[in-house]
Amino acid sequence: MKKSLVVLLALAVALGLVLGGCQKQAKEVKIGIIAPISGEAATFGESTANGAKLYFDQVNAAGGVEGMKIVYFVEDDKGNPTEGANAYSKLIDQNKVSAIVGTVMSKVSLAGAPIAQNKGVPMISPTSTNPAVTLVGNYIFRACFIDPFQGFVAAKFAYNDLGKKTAAVIYDSGNDYTKGLAEVFRDEFTKMGGKITAFESYTAGTSDFNAQLVKIKATNPDVLFIPNYYNDAGLIAKQAREMGIKAIFLGGDGWDSPDLFKIGGKAIEGGFFVNHFSKDSQVPAAKKFVADYKAKYNKDPDALAALAYEAAMIVVDAIKRAKSADPKAIRDAMEKTNLETLTGVVKFDQNRNPVKGAVILECKNGQAVYKASVNP
Ligand code: PHE
Repeated sequence: MKKSLVVLLALAVALGLVLGGCQKQAKEVKIGIIAPISGEAATFGESTANGAKLYFDQVNAAGGVEGMKIVYFVEDDKGNPTEGANAYSKLIDQNKVSAIVGTVMSKVSLAGAPIAQNKGVPMISPTSTNPAVTLVGNYIFRACFIDPFQGFVAAKFAYNDLGKKTAAVIYDSGNDYTKGLAEVFRDEFTKMGGKITAFESYTAGTSDFNAQLVKIKATNPDVLFIPNYYNDAGLIAKQAREMGIKAIFLGGDGWDSPDLFKIGGKAIEGGFFVNHFSKDSQVPAAKKFVADYKAKYNKDPDALAALAYEAAMIVVDAIKRAKSADPKAIRDAMEKTNLETLTGVVKFDQNRNPVKGAVILECKNGQAVYKASVNP
């Protein structure tokens, strides 16, 4: 073979490699998923990762988005703000993701949001309900309602539907979510004409709530509002019943876990909580989601799984409209979301919060059963 021909061939091969490489790069869009897969609320993490993965896998099976395959990376924030911040940095700096679905707990999203904002990568928390999360900046979105609405729904249910006029509250003073929700409930219930008989706090790591519960018992409330995650809520309910507190227990979305029933046992029966989604939803898209989720994971989805699925839908829809894997282009498209999801149409207000309704679930025979819907 002539030398010039060899050179030409070599050049052609090199060019092919380079082009092939570029093409391969452009044919992927990388997305991060952050959730508390271990730690104090591990069922939240498992459901969240499962929900997001289910949607991304479905999109890939149908050929991807805008010709790109979705490559996702899952990070465990362990329910801890420092771990959460590290997860955001790792996904953005090392994995070079274009967007992040995450994370769950408001206190952890609040630690991650400034990182996503400063690095210019859009994030959508499926389920962080504290208003401050999206106020961090214009790259921060959420797929759920916020606590001022959730607290109002809880207060209205207690006052109007249950017809109860007195309530006590017990909350974790170091957790943005439980503290914020406790305060909204107190203010709304009072505005409606109800009376808050006790407003007791504790700090994280407490497992003996005797001191707070003794004070609460002395005020004999009709309702005890426990706006905490399922592990604390289950324990509090149990200890409250053991000391003879007769109040109806009421909670927020943080109760959503099969472990609530394992920890709370009989004590949690007859309790109610506000949530984002019920597996008993009759909306066709939601029914299909429940069936698909069950087929893949062999269990019913909770609200965390549903909202993570929705957050993933919102990201993919934005990539479609942006026709790009560029984080800024995705952010700009995300702001203009107008998308039919499992729980209704998602559009963002000026603080990047959707307006959504809530459901009330009742704890019955070891399960969270649909009780009522509340429109925004
Ligand atoms: N709303 C909770 C928070 O902001 C997280 C959560 C949502 C937990 C839904 C359970 C179910 O911290």
